[in-house]
Amino acid sequence: MKVPFLDLKPQHDALREEILAAFARVYDRRQFCLGAEVEAFEAEFAAAMGAGAAVGVSNGTTALQLAANALGIGPGDEVIVPAFSFIASAWTASHAGARPVFADIDPATFGLDPEAAARAVTPKTRAIVVVHLFGQPVEMAPLLDLAKRHDLRVIEDCAQAHGARWRGHPVGLVGDIGTFSFYPTKNLGGCGEGGAVVSRHGELLDRVRLARAHGSPERYRHTSIGYNHRMEGLQAAALRVKLPHLGRWTERRRVIADRYLEGIRLQDTLLPARKPEAESVWHQFTLRHPRRDALRAHLAETGIGTDLIYPVPLPHQPCYHDLGYNPGDFPVAEKAAARCLSLPIWPEMADEQVEAVVAAINAFAAVR
Ligand SMILES: Cc1ncc(COP(=O)(O)O)c(C=O)c1O
Repeated sequence: MKVPFLDLKPQHDALREEILAAFARVYDRRQFCLGAEVEAFEAEFAAAMGAGAAVGVSNGTTALQLAANALGIGPGDEVIVPAFSFIASAWTASHAGARPVFADIDPATFGLDPEAAARAVTPKTRAIVVVHLFGQPVEMAPLLDLAKRHDLRVIEDCAQAHGARWRGHPVGLVGDIGTFSFYPTKNLGGCGEGGAVVSRHGELLDRVRLARAHGSPERYRHTSIGYNHRMEGLQAAALRVKLPHLGRWTERRRVIADRYLEGIRLQDTLLPARKPEAESVWHQFTLRHPRRDALRAHLAETGIGTDLIYPVPLPHQPCYHDLGYNPGDFPVAEKAAARCLSLPIWPEMADEQVEAVVAAINAFAAVR
């Protein structure tokens, strides 16, 4: 049985007419950049995330850039970033002209290791980027303590964690500021690029709102250096159609994850941690196995798509060569990069497809 790693077609087929009608609404109003549709989405997304307000922006990368900007991070500053994430988490520092200082991850959850983060603090440290990777909320208490001790700001990168909760608290609102991505493959994905910023602090959101549109509180008056990071009306319209389905899609992801967790019996496999205080939204289901490449090839032969997310830790990316990190500096992230394998986990997967993945993984023991 064929099981693609991800198939966006069923979701987009099911919502095709509704999304096209929403596009027509924007087209006829001609509010392509910000406008009523974006404002409506901001209110609906904020309510769904348990936030008082949200600011719609052009993507998850610019959301992080605007978050750092709102916190006043700049040249000469250091920002602690987990060594294992998508590159945009590190751009939070780099786009601000600050230096990313990488710290290793917790082997159980892929989240930032608080002790490693503590070792990375210097007098120049201004902020910590916490990434709720794969939809799994990070244990925040020790990181919040660390931030308090050193007067650091906490940026939550929630690009993969729409609706996840840590001890009942929605991600993005535990730290100082939180960012989301609506890239098409995300749990809530648009028909193009999109992002949002949330915060408990209204003044930070005001700064984000100003900076996303040229630092301009009114036409042709610019009170601060700004950017063009506006959300598009067409994206907001598509996301408004999808948002009411997010809870149901997340539930389905949880059912699939539960089935993987109980069904996968392959020896030497490290399955993702499931902690009662962390309500994951299972953006990815990423296991670790010492013979990852052979397992991946075996699954491909049986028609099952997988992905390597992420094969290279951030400090070892060529763009950060000048920072001088060496192999062995981040043992947990390096082992994760060498062993991680992400399985198909999308809401429209049929039960038979989920069973096919479980059976194929368990059969690896027999064929190797
Ligand atoms: C952890 C993480 N941070 C940031 C981003 C950046 O989001 P975008 O692709 O919308 O710029 C992504 C997604 O691609 C991501 O996975």
